[in-house]
Amino acid sequence: MRAAVYPGSFDPITYGHIDVIQRAKKIIGTLFVAVAAKPPKEMAFSAEERLSMVKEAAAGLEGVRVNLFEGLLVEYTLKVGAQGIIRGLRALTDFEYEFQMALTNRKLCDQIETVFLMPSEAYSYLSSSMIKEIARLGGDLSAFVPPFVCEKLREKFGK
Ligand code: PNS
Repeated sequence: MRAAVYPGSFDPITYGHIDVIQRAKKIIGTLFVAVAAKPPKEMAFSAEERLSMVKEAAAGLEGVRVNLFEGLLVEYTLKVGAQGIIRGLRALTDFEYEFQMALTNRKLCDQIETVFLMPSEAYSYLSSSMIKEIARLGGDLSAFVPPFVCEKLREKFGK
């Protein structure tokens, strides 16, 4: 695939997301990491904070561009000239939601294919929500997120 979009809320970016970016880069020319400016859920971090953390995580990765996006994902994908959407699939619990999203996006735009990548099993249990809970409770985050994200979580949750 020449170009694909890897969208998400990234609230915040985790080692699991970074693993998917690195895997996607092996099979895709240009990867547009798209940070949802206004996701349907409530976010702990602002769009700018999430964008800046993803940019820092992707710094130095050739062929990876990071931007905010608003509106329909398929429209953004067409706008940047990409042919596909990348999603990470961790466990069976992800399947229902991902299946719905992929087929909805296909109905909206048949030209775009969704490709699922499985992160390393070391990260298959990781989720941004769990990481925020650990941060709220003052637990050790070093196995889940890069040090600069750890710092942002500490600033946000004050522990
Ligand atoms: O990291 P997330 O929260 O699973 O990401 C979800 C996201 C942002 C990719 C999804 O909500 C999305 O694509 N939003 C854009 C609006 C859209 O196109 N919706 C229709 C397809 S679900």
